[in-house]
Amino acid sequence: MRKSFYITTPIYYPSAKLHIGHAYCTTLADTMARYKRLAGYDVFFLTGSDEHGQKIQRTAEKEGVTPIAYVDGIVAGFQKLWERLSVSNDDFIRTSEERHIKVVQEIFRRIYEKGDIYKGEYKGLYCTPCESYWTNLQLDDNGCCPDCHRPVEEVAEEAYFFRLSNYADRLLQHIEENEDFIQPVSRRNEMINFIKQGLEDLCISRTSFDWGIPVPGDEKHVIYVWFDALTNYLTPIGFLDDAEKFAKFWPADIHLVGKEIVRFHSIIWPCILMALDLPLPKQIYGHGWLVVKGDKMSKSKGNVVDPLLLIDEFGADAIRYFLLREINLGQDGNFSRDALITRINADLANDLGNLLHRTLNMIGKFQGGILVDPAGGATEFDESLTADAKTAVDNYTREMDVRALSDAVKTAWNFIGRASKYIDETAPWALAKDPAKKGALAAVLYNLAESLRIISIMVAPIMPTTAQKIHEQLNLPGDFAAVRLSDAEWGKTPLGLTVGTPVQLFPRIEIEGEGKQAVKKNKGKKS
Ligand code: MSP
Repeated sequence: MRKSFYITTPIYYPSAKLHIGHAYCTTLADTMARYKRLAGYDVFFLTGSDEHGQKIQRTAEKEGVTPIAYVDGIVAGFQKLWERLSVSNDDFIRTSEERHIKVVQEIFRRIYEKGDIYKGEYKGLYCTPCESYWTNLQLDDNGCCPDCHRPVEEVAEEAYFFRLSNYADRLLQHIEENEDFIQPVSRRNEMINFIKQGLEDLCISRTSFDWGIPVPGDEKHVIYVWFDALTNYLTPIGFLDDAEKFAKFWPADIHLVGKEIVRFHSIIWPCILMALDLPLPKQIYGHGWLVVKGDKMSKSKGNVVDPLLLIDEFGADAIRYFLLREINLGQDGNFSRDALITRINADLANDLGNLLHRTLNMIGKFQGGILVDPAGGATEFDESLTADAKTAVDNYTREMDVRALSDAVKTAWNFIGRASKYIDETAPWALAKDPAKKGALAAVLYNLAESLRIISIMVAPIMPTTAQKIHEQLNLPGDFAAVRLSDAEWGKTPLGLTVGTPVQLFPRIEIEGEGKQAVKKNKGKKS
């Protein structure tokens, strides 16, 4: 039986325009999903939108539209962005969809019947923009929300509670016994300390607004956001309507989330699942933030970078490459336009682009575009190149398997550098001058084309469009979508192949000025 892999991103709030920080999270998940498909897994990759809550209701009221009309427009923008970023999600869940509403209500019903949801009174301080409750002790010096520093509201209302406290011991035991459950380790330790301080029951309903999923049988209450949001992970994989699919994909292999929401995913979510007698996800991975000069990118700080504009300017693959290469998963990473341009010029235009261009040019010039049979010809450098290709694929596989994505990218690029060095070592232009070296020349050009074929496979999860272009320029037989990691074995390029004409993958970006003021001169050119 084929192995399955279920990966999720968080579902995004449609309260603000998505920025490159959100795109970071989705790019990571997409790369992991694509890698697993390449490795032969049946993958289900889920993303979506988290649409309910008072904040959305108020914004819609201000704009004079219904909440659903308001979110429809924004969510269409999310979907367009993911498409333009080459995100290969298998489903997009909207929490306002009927299929999800049914799941949330059924989960509420089941846990209520079990006795782990009860009615009580909620008193607290609520920050609407952050959709968070705070205690007096947590407020900032001005008595405002410690996160966004805006005023909080006192609320007292009848509400439903989930008995989180019932599950604290079991959860702690599970975390301690399963080292991989929360990653990276720093987040795991934070969560262990948090749970050890004791868990209070969780308020899961509100009566002060109605843009939400009604509590079954008590419709003046709507289910409060996290209970609604987290359960999205069960909706599209057949929780209520397709037992076979559900058995295949649950438990999830990884919920990839930003570090500030690890707490909700590794405490509330497992307790809901325990109350439902469902197995817990295999891993919750808390990635770091994309920061600008040390500050988290966010709308309230006014430092957001619009991913659509960046895609227009540089192309999706260059942005994906930058995000994956520059930031170590789990740590914060800096975004800067200058660093992006430097990476494009050095790693994409120069290293990868030149290797392809030079190789195809030489095959065209010296052999009429054909990979001719070396008939025993060889050079003293061939064996080390083939050995290095194998080592690169092995390392890349190991690194991808342990989610060391930026290391896997570096490994692929080291091999690009290795293949470029092989051109210098073998000097094909010199071989071409000597008729006695015809076989050696054919071997060198074959080895370069073969290296590029293997590179295209390693690049596929990172820069899918570029990988496909390499496949097409090499004119390799078959559909690139059908290529698997197991094809990254030396020797699969057919002899006699006529390669295509080279087309530049990434034009170099000329910049004017220095440092932060650097601007792109050759506008309009994309990968
Ligand atoms: N709706 C909730 C998630 C519910 S999941 C059941 C939410 N939405 S969000 O839109 O505010 O954030 C979604 C994700 O984007 C989070 O994982 C968050 O960490 C991530 N990011 C938002 N800004 C970011 C950066 N500047 N950098 C990296 N990731 C960032 O939370």
